[in-house]
Amino acid sequence: MNEMKSFELWPIGVIRSPYRESGEIPKGPGAKHDAEGVLELRSELEPGLADIDGFSHLFVVWIFDRSEGYDLTAHPPIDDRPHGVFATRSPRRPNPLGLTVVRLLRREGPRLFVRGVDMLDGTPFVDIKPYLSSVPADELRRGWIDEVETRTRR
Ligand SMILES: C[S@@+](CC[C@H](N)C(=O)[O-])C[C@H]1O[C@@H](n2cnc3c(N)ncnc32)[C@H](O)[C@@H]1O
Repeated sequence: MNEMKSFELWPIGVIRSPYRESGEIPKGPGAKHDAEGVLELRSELEPGLADIDGFSHLFVVWIFDRSEGYDLTAHPPIDDRPHGVFATRSPRRPNPLGLTVVRLLRREGPRLFVRGVDMLDGTPFVDIKPYLSSVPADELRRGWIDEVETRTRR
């Protein structure tokens, strides 16, 4: 039975970001993530970046390495109501994986210069994938976030 087996991940690199503390990272309604950072891939993995330059945006999968434990209910900063952790992007989740879409600015060898980081400096990452969005905008539903935006606009 493979379904409930544990899988080990290892960092393929480290993210350089301007943020030293969580409080510096923009949060809340309308927060903009336009900070620049660098994805420093382990040099032995550099061949895996071949052909990445053609993509404007990337998914980065990373580890909330400074978060401990998890809660099944989260209290996002944009709402005064609790939500199930899997309906949020809380760092306190059963598997502490973060997912961020960044814009690829340029590549220098194993270093990817990107815009849109929302993680702390020194955060380990475990994967990079090209961002391909195939969901038409009119089919996207944003759940409780749309409801909060409507409520707070009044
Ligand atoms: C709301 S999470 C969203 C992260 C990612 N975009 C996602 O959706 O998985 C972003 C917050 O995670 C926290 N954070 C960033 N880097 C972290 C790290 N290395 N370890 C623990 N928490 C971190 C900061 O408080 C930051 O404001």
